[in-house]
Amino acid sequence: MITNDPNKFQAIISHAKEYGFVFPSSEIYDGLSAVYDYGPWGSELKRNIRDQWWNAMTRMHDNIVGIDSAIFMHPTIWKASGHVDNFSDPMIDNRDSKKRYRVDHLIEGFSEELRAAGRTEDADRILSAMDLLLAENDFAGLKGLIETNAIKCAVSGTCNWTEVRQFNLMFSTQLGSVAEEANEIYLRPETAQGIFVNFLNVQKTARLKIPFGIAQVGKAFRNEIVARQFIFRMREFEQMEMQFFIRPGTQREWYEYWKEERMKWHTGLGFSSDHYRYHDHVKLAHYADAAVDIEYAFPIGWKEVEGIHSRTDFDLSSHQRFSGKKLQYFDNEINQNYVPFVIETSIGLDRMFLLTLSHAYAEEKWTKEDGKEDSRVVLRIPPKLAPIKLAILPLVKKDGLPEIAREIMKECRDDFYCFYEEKDTIGKRYRRMDALGTPFCVTIDHQTKEDMTVTIRYRDSMQQERVPLASVRDLVRSQVR
Ligand code: GAP
Repeated sequence: MITNDPNKFQAIISHAKEYGFVFPSSEIYDGLSAVYDYGPWGSELKRNIRDQWWNAMTRMHDNIVGIDSAIFMHPTIWKASGHVDNFSDPMIDNRDSKKRYRVDHLIEGFSEELRAAGRTEDADRILSAMDLLLAENDFAGLKGLIETNAIKCAVSGTCNWTEVRQFNLMFSTQLGSVAEEANEIYLRPETAQGIFVNFLNVQKTARLKIPFGIAQVGKAFRNEIVARQFIFRMREFEQMEMQFFIRPGTQREWYEYWKEERMKWHTGLGFSSDHYRYHDHVKLAHYADAAVDIEYAFPIGWKEVEGIHSRTDFDLSSHQRFSGKKLQYFDNEINQNYVPFVIETSIGLDRMFLLTLSHAYAEEKWTKEDGKEDSRVVLRIPPKLAPIKLAILPLVKKDGLPEIAREIMKECRDDFYCFYEEKDTIGKRYRRMDALGTPFCVTIDHQTKEDMTVTIRYRDSMQQERVPLASVRDLVRSQVR
């Protein structure tokens, strides 16, 4: 059964810090709210997730290519995209604590409390009412919903609320050295616009025919007001986005195609399908005619990890209008010029990272053959994504064993990430590798010198077997690709 587990969530945050996955940013200065740094194993894991997505998009599709566009873009882009006017969330302030809340988060938090108290129907009722009010931009109605349910501020404990107002989420900065002449520009809140404004450059240079896609991975920035929940909601984060350009009128079939295709990617990585579901949007973004979230059962509840949006021709048409440049495609199969329609798939890399840790983290206890209790914390990260694939462990630091271990390291490190460790007892070293999610360890002992075999230990089962040293590279390689 799938249940919320806030304790597991806290344990994951502590584990991520203790084992070098994620650190609070600027920690020696007491941190910076909702900004995080990735440590040695976190950056490896993040890179592996990024590579899996990139390869699934570009290598596995003949008609999808990648780009890497700049974070700074012409400020008119954000006017044309609608972000200057529409990229805002309804917020409400508590007059006593002076704390500001995103209205949907405040109401969702309250519904979670109802659910925890067993009042599931009330929780569903309030969420449906909220969805309808948000879809109609009915701010007075939203405030009414908060007041009739006596939703309190967590800090002041009071219901002394202001009116509901819109706040734009984009960060701005100045381009140019002289303050009076500097232009205000924005840090991009999504990577997608870098794809739209390069649509013709890419289509022509890569000689693409519709339907085709352009993929991009990169940083995005949003001034999230309520940014809690670790790396789930950050102010600086990374997106993996793909815009798929299609003939107008075919959007429904491609929308269904990408919905299915993206779900297959998630489960194909080794994450269980019962932890996923689709959630159709009731309130559509300003650019969409259909939208669905792929949600995952995180320890903090069902939450969005990826969005699939049918963006119509909104962005290209709007850039055409604002820039005065034609952004059209000549379709020689039907002898027509048109502005293509777009299906977008958009996934947060950091959220996918959190999903991976949520899936992987386990605290295990068992009774050994001698009757004593034993335990471990293990990250059951799918081997393809694991930061370290193979730990190479000489049993002792002498008798020529480190030399053999170094030879194995030399042979394997070109193919996958290996880690050499000779300190501590072998048991402690295994536990440490479990905590880092390393799927395979090989131990080199005195028998290795006699018959060139090693012990390979499997993280998930903790089983060990003796295998020829010469087979290690292929054995691991077959599991991590
Ligand atoms: N281009 C469309 C777009 O940006 P979105 O639903 O706002 O759509 C897409 O964002 C994905 O980006 C989300 O599904 C989520 O995984 C990730 N994301 C959005 N805001 C985020 C934040 N503040 N912190 C971390 N990830 C975020």
